[in-house]
Amino acid sequence: MGRDRAERLKAAADRLVVVANRLPVTVAKQEQEWTVRPGSGGLVTALAPVLRNRNGLWCGWSGTTEEEEAPLEGLFGEAEKQAGFRLLPVTLSKEEVELFYLGFSNETLWPLFHDLLGRTHFEKTYWESYLKANQRYASTLSGAIDSASPIWVHDYHLIPLGGRLREGGHIGRIGFFLHIPFPTSDLFRRLPWRRQLIEFFLAYDLVGFQTRRDFANFIHCVREMLPDVQIFPGSSHYTILLRGRRILVQHFPISIDFQEFNRLAKFPSTQEAAAIFQDKYPDQKIILGLDRLDYTKGVVPRFRAFQTCLKKYPDLRGKVVLVQVVVPSRIEVPEYQAMKRELEQLLAQINGEFTRPGWVPIHYFFRSLSRLELAAMYRAADIALVTPIRDGMNLVSKEYCASSPDGGVLILSEFAGAAEQLREGAILVNPFDLDGVADAIYGAFHMPMEEQLRRMNHLRNHLRQKNVYEWVNGFLAALQEGQVPAASRSA
Ligand code: UDP
Ligand code: G6P
Repeated sequence: MGRDRAERLKAAADRLVVVANRLPVTVAKQEQEWTVRPGSGGLVTALAPVLRNRNGLWCGWSGTTEEEEAPLEGLFGEAEKQAGFRLLPVTLSKEEVELFYLGFSNETLWPLFHDLLGRTHFEKTYWESYLKANQRYASTLSGAIDSASPIWVHDYHLIPLGGRLREGGHIGRIGFFLHIPFPTSDLFRRLPWRRQLIEFFLAYDLVGFQTRRDFANFIHCVREMLPDVQIFPGSSHYTILLRGRRILVQHFPISIDFQEFNRLAKFPSTQEAAAIFQDKYPDQKIILGLDRLDYTKGVVPRFRAFQTCLKKYPDLRGKVVLVQVVVPSRIEVPEYQAMKRELEQLLAQINGEFTRPGWVPIHYFFRSLSRLELAAMYRAADIALVTPIRDGMNLVSKEYCASSPDGGVLILSEFAGAAEQLREGAILVNPFDLDGVADAIYGAFHMPMEEQLRRMNHLRNHLRQKNVYEWVNGFLAALQEGQVPAASRSA
């Protein structure tokens, strides 16, 4: 390496550029006025506090289209001050939103990577737009950052970005983290552009996955599709050698800001709000479901399991309530609209079947929550019912534990990435096994406080250590050093 290049890389090493499909703020027009509000979703929750501390730059989509001509510069000055780091917006055209974001990202990669082949759309125009939009991200970045800065790219929308940045002359290290699962090769092979996509992954210096299973699936696909690459297994990571380049592949389970949720749960205002919430359901145990509107979250089978539970254990009638919050998301995608319709029909059917004066079995909210509402719901819930049919990690399950210092039971799907870490304190269920979930609800309902505390303390102690800061430090150390940090080896 030339001295100049080495010096530039060294000088830029402590900077950080984060790129994700979305900025950590959402721009929207309300009654002719443009507003900026905090975004939702696990990625935002996980990274925003960390970037604040690191004085970084976050590049992502503003949420508006070119055609809307939002006055972004004026709006972002204030948002940057509040965020405490730079925001670099990428504006997508209406067509790119349809073909790249809703199309390839959310109608192709999202369902395929969540094992839902039947919901996957394979459209060449989606793929072409995906490539074009990634090029647009690359061009926006190249004009705004030092080409020696380390870059951390997030999630399935931006797999080709690393390769595009390299073509544009970026010399700094580039890491990629996939927040969603990586499928088995049987599924991945169905993608007409499978080989190009695998090659794009290998343009990064570091590729991170949520779980051991995801990274094992990925390595399997690389072996199958590129038989000439050299792959060296390590204790908890793999090194791939390709055309003289070294690529590290490792799993880094994402987590939450444990102390923040723990603190929030103990605030008097949260406890007061939790008590008011509990008073709405007198003499009932509260089961909480909290998810984005998404078919992967398993809310329809969850309602069926709750229905099964009320049939199988009639003594629970009048004594439990399922409070289900569904946060609006990707509503333009037809599958999401269909799921909402199906869910609301089922809700009406179950409530019609079991409601009696003074008791409604399922309370359903279709909206997003304020931070206080979220903390109060976590605090008030006796049981969290987290039953995705597939999930990269699932932060809700971790946030519930961090917000439950006085007991509570976590029922968790074995198909959530979080199950790999939380299996010892949670009750693990198969969300397709309605009787099994019904039995788990019954068991949670009757679980003595002593056992609740033992399990919950175990979960909380784990999350206290394995928090989002540990996640970020682990990934960045591996990105910067090109090595697996000691702390991650035993994870
Ligand atoms: N969340 C939110 N707004 C709400 C309710 C929840 O932003 O109204 C957050 C929640 O606190 C969690 C995230 O959304 O951090 C959901 O993350 P998860 O990993 O469970 O699922 P994802 O939505 O990323 O698939
Ligand atoms: C998941 C994805 C994120 C995404 C979030 C919200 O957590 O892994 O990349 O930002 O869902 O989805 P949306 O489509 O609204 O960005």
